[in-house]
Amino acid sequence: MKDVYILSVETSCDETSIAIVKNGNEVVALTILTQMDVHANFGGVVPEIASRMHTENITMVLEDTLNKANMKVSDMDAIAVTYAPGLLGSLLVGVEFAKVLSYIYNKPLIKVNHLVGHIYANKIDNKLHFPCLALIISGGHTELIKMTGDYEFEMLGETQDDAIGEAFDKVARVIGLPYPGGPNIEKLAREGTNSYKLPKPVNDDTYNFSYSGLKSSVINLVNNERQRGNEINKADLACSFQTTAVEELTRKLELALKNTDIKNVIIAGGVSANKYLRGKVQEVCDKYNAELALPEFIYCTDNAAMIGAAAYPLYLKGEFADLDLNASSNTNIC
Ligand code: KG4
Ligand code: ZN
Repeated sequence: MKDVYILSVETSCDETSIAIVKNGNEVVALTILTQMDVHANFGGVVPEIASRMHTENITMVLEDTLNKANMKVSDMDAIAVTYAPGLLGSLLVGVEFAKVLSYIYNKPLIKVNHLVGHIYANKIDNKLHFPCLALIISGGHTELIKMTGDYEFEMLGETQDDAIGEAFDKVARVIGLPYPGGPNIEKLAREGTNSYKLPKPVNDDTYNFSYSGLKSSVINLVNNERQRGNEINKADLACSFQTTAVEELTRKLELALKNTDIKNVIIAGGVSANKYLRGKVQEVCDKYNAELALPEFIYCTDNAAMIGAAAYPLYLKGEFADLDLNASSNTNIC
């Protein structure tokens, strides 16, 4: 069979990224331009600034990717783009850009859901084995999904309030760590112990998650101690928070492994870059003799290679989008 080259575009949040992916699992070239330093000045992503920066940089990111691969847009078989979910203004920049390329070069357009992209990050240099349990853990999502085949999703459970990444970012902010909080909490937690008693979310037997109670209890604890003029041990608090947050994930994953007898697990999304979390998820998988697939660190956080990987099954099925494609904040993948 002829090799298939997909040019993929990702602009759903604060990374402008374009990749060329061969046959759905080989990254020929990838450029990720992050705006993190700019947004760090504001303690979080400013949507208006994000979309303006995508507009300024996207042509340069395309040029860079093509140069790295020594290829032209005309060499591609399709153009793929993240169309949902994310910041609408940011998504729109990528969607319009991909539509223009598709029209000018007469290439089929493929629309990809960002979360599906995170799942297919596991397919890069790898194979997905079905059935599998997919744990999506990012700044906007905490979901446990059962997959029985390519693009066959069944939602088992999701967060009832905050996403896990959001909780990492908010806790980091309240203890004075810069944005993005997740990696900074992880770093600081290594120097601390799990000495603060934090409440565990309700121990029910659903696959749903909850992070707002944990987040609020950390914020209240910090405020109360400050009012009393007491010093907080930031490293211990980071460690206690991380331990409790990860316990919530592994508890639900363990329940699903026990109830479904599924033997393949994948983790996806920015928070899956956390090494402590990777270790704890691995322990649970080992206990149930399940195989854990971990995306390489570079493919954990937002990048266009995962979008190219997720677009490939759609290319094979001939599922193409029209030029009236619009960005959407709809989060459903099931
Ligand atoms: O998937 P992603 O890049 O963007 C979204 O789709 O949300 O995930 C970003 C989230 C942020 O909340 C960030 O703090 C978190 O992933 N994150 C981490 C780590 N690296 C990124 N959280 C915990 N530990 C990390 N090492
Ligand atoms: Zn993401």
